[in-house]
Amino acid sequence: MKRLNDFRMNMGRDELVPIMIGGMGVDISSADLALEAARLGGVGHISDAMIKTVTDRRYKTKYVKAKQALYKYQPGTDDKSNVQFDMGHLAEATRLHVESTMSRKQGSGRIFINCMEKLTMNAPKETLKVRMASALDAGIDGITLAAGLHLGSFALIEDHPRFRDAKLGIIVSSLRALQLFIKKNSRLNRLPDYVVVEGPLAGGHLGFGMDWAQYDLATIVAEILAYMKAENLNIPVIPAGGIFTGSDAVRFMEMGASGVQVATRFTVTKECGLPDDIKQEYFKATEDDIEVNEISPTGYPMRMIKSSPGIGDGIRPNCEAYGYLLDANGKCAYVSAYNREVLANPEAKRISVKDKTCLCTHMRNFDIWTCGHLTARLKDTTLRHADGSYQLLSAQHVFEDYQFSTNGQVKLPDAEALPN
Ligand SMILES: Cc1cc2nc3c(=O)[nH]c(=O)nc-3n(C[C@H](O)[C@H](O)[C@H](O)COP(=O)(O)O)c2cc1C
Repeated sequence: MKRLNDFRMNMGRDELVPIMIGGMGVDISSADLALEAARLGGVGHISDAMIKTVTDRRYKTKYVKAKQALYKYQPGTDDKSNVQFDMGHLAEATRLHVESTMSRKQGSGRIFINCMEKLTMNAPKETLKVRMASALDAGIDGITLAAGLHLGSFALIEDHPRFRDAKLGIIVSSLRALQLFIKKNSRLNRLPDYVVVEGPLAGGHLGFGMDWAQYDLATIVAEILAYMKAENLNIPVIPAGGIFTGSDAVRFMEMGASGVQVATRFTVTKECGLPDDIKQEYFKATEDDIEVNEISPTGYPMRMIKSSPGIGDGIRPNCEAYGYLLDANGKCAYVSAYNREVLANPEAKRISVKDKTCLCTHMRNFDIWTCGHLTARLKDTTLRHADGSYQLLSAQHVFEDYQFSTNGQVKLPDAEALPN
């Protein structure tokens, strides 16, 4: 019986352990987590979602305060087009996070950065260009373009000196999205170095509608592999979403995948950026506690734990400080929903907004608990302490469990004493 470690992920000249830990925004896939994946010979991701918040927290910068000081909150207006990002600060923050991470890198693996197109940041093209170029300047090994079709994203950095040497990958959820990407980028003579195929069981935003349950990752991967073969394309295909054990991964490798991207099992590791009390919520969640809803202002369905404090909350938007989801016209669906509720309830001290959530503020505060479909199985991957809490895992333990397990088994950790 094969183990995942019997395979290797070839990407250019790199020969990697075929495990990629997926990007998890607002510092859930922390530098520490990504560094462990690289040390163990795989690929880890940091994320540039809300990068200024991340650097303020991690490196004691003051970017958020500086932005907020420039703009005054204007009640009732849906138009935030004046609230612009300072490109110099954006570049500095990205550079700081990437350089600091890369300077600590050990081992033969790689560290990529997850860049979501849907973080439109009030100037989609200009900000994405700065984000990608600064990450390349700072020495990132690769960029994974997520949450969008990315039809023009490669072109934004075609003049960058590292355009052809850094690894550039895309995330797609259908063959059609991949075909569109390849067609639109043909002029650049630059194919992606890898394609992550994300199915409907993934965490975060989904590349499907609310009919996500009708799709199946293995079917989409098979279609994409057949297309690659027919077109003589040699691009590593990396399935993601609901790959919970090493044996699940081996099934995809035997189909012809080059590696797998996984995330949910790492949300309960010590290195993961979620606060420890929230990791316990992930352990506790049952199948019934998880839903896919449409409250993200991005317009994509998102999977989350139903008891996330941010669901239904009517917090005042703070685009002046954050504003990562403002579109090219300075609009965000949450701002409009919030203003509608304030207008409808003029006397209320606290309002509730049910149809949208203030994703910036709530992801910053870890109040939207996005998760993969198989989160309910996390409790079976560890031991329980006498006080009812679950033992956190090390990233190395989970990584090696994917690498070496057989027969769908999950290896439990050695018992540890409760921390004081
Ligand atoms: C907590 C969490 C946050 C995520 N955030 C992002 C993100 O910011 N960008 C992204 O491209 N994918 C995101 N994802 C998706 C993962 O990178 C990954 O592709 C997917 O969850 C893999 O499936 P699995 O969680 O079942 O292993 C997130 C997943 C989780 C669990």
